[in-house]
Amino acid sequence: MTGSKTRFAGVLYQNIAKPILFLFDPESVHKSFINIGKFLGGNAVTKGITRWVYYYRNPALTQNILGIRFESPVGLSAGFDKDAEIISICEDLGFGFTEVGSVTKLASSGNPGKRLGRLPERKSLWVNLGLNNKGADSISSGLRNESYEIPFGVSIAKTNCRETVNDRIGKEDYLYSLKKFNSRNVGAYYTLNISCPNAYGGQPFSRPAAYEALLKGCDALHIKKPIFVKLSPDLTKKNVNAIIEISKRHKVDGFVISNLTKRHNFGEGGLSGKAVEKHANDMLKYVYRKTKGRFILIGVGGIFSAEDAYRKIQYGANLVELITGMIYQGPNLISEINIGIAELLRMDGFKSIEEAVGSGINKRHLHRHAK
Ligand SMILES: Cc1cc2nc3c(=O)[nH]c(=O)nc-3n(C[C@H](O)[C@H](O)[C@H](O)COP(=O)(O)O)c2cc1C
Repeated sequence: MTGSKTRFAGVLYQNIAKPILFLFDPESVHKSFINIGKFLGGNAVTKGITRWVYYYRNPALTQNILGIRFESPVGLSAGFDKDAEIISICEDLGFGFTEVGSVTKLASSGNPGKRLGRLPERKSLWVNLGLNNKGADSISSGLRNESYEIPFGVSIAKTNCRETVNDRIGKEDYLYSLKKFNSRNVGAYYTLNISCPNAYGGQPFSRPAAYEALLKGCDALHIKKPIFVKLSPDLTKKNVNAIIEISKRHKVDGFVISNLTKRHNFGEGGLSGKAVEKHANDMLKYVYRKTKGRFILIGVGGIFSAEDAYRKIQYGANLVELITGMIYQGPNLISEINIGIAELLRMDGFKSIEEAVGSGINKRHLHRHAK
């Protein structure tokens, strides 16, 4: 039943909502989505209706990872809910988790000018927002007394400004936010976003020395919750190898692979969606091959279908996240992916996601979808 309601919602999105929404400026539409999500998530009636249309659960999709229960492997990726305003409605849309932020020490309005664009022919978005968010103090205090059905992670970046390009100041900026969220016991896990492609001064914490100094600072905070690191899909293998080796020496529980790609001709900013999918998948496979099970991997980039998500699981992802697919396909995509993954697992004879993780790498159970 959920399948047919969700499919119907998808037809309405494709044929009515999307053609209208795509006439307007993408950032204004994003803001409207947040406002609508806040409203729908704000009372029991609208939450119930949303749930009736979209929600799907299947025991085969439940996983316990690093002490966190994920009832679906599909999460909302960082950058959509920057100020943590729509976690409530994400529960009803069928997400298994969300990642809020990226949050920075200081509040920021982000980069000036037009900073979000659609590239429909490439099924991508051009993103140059520059980490706009309300800042760690405000966001963590807003979440302090909230509790949700689904776990949420907090993505932490450094404030987008000239000063934080300095290794010491940048590190302190990350640690301030981490400490703030941890001391307020907000968030099920934390992600260090060292790969924002549209902040001042690039990605200095992808350099091995700065990265190790940052992790040493994190270690000193004795954080019990899982810590992930979000990687750029544009790193060289040498750089990835160094990051993996350094991570083994510190408290890093996993990687989010990947952020936006800078491989484009638009100058500033990064690309999401199908433009990043292959780069993200190549890096996911690479990291899984090198580390097999040592780290939890979250696969992100270009997921537009259950097959896309399942392919990432077969390449080594324990969980997946998305944004762009939901914008192009509609919020129905989340349940469609959940339903589809359950079916693909069944077809491949797997009883759980855990059994399928990495199966496209060791070739034992290579499904036709993992090409
Ligand atoms: C509008 C937008 C804003 C984003 N902001 C962030 C961010 O603040 N922090 C972050 O780690 N990633 C951010 N990202 C990257 C996404 O989390 C994700 O890694 C990337 O878009 C690839 O996934 P997708 O193809 O499903 O969109 C953003 C992406 C988009 C589209």
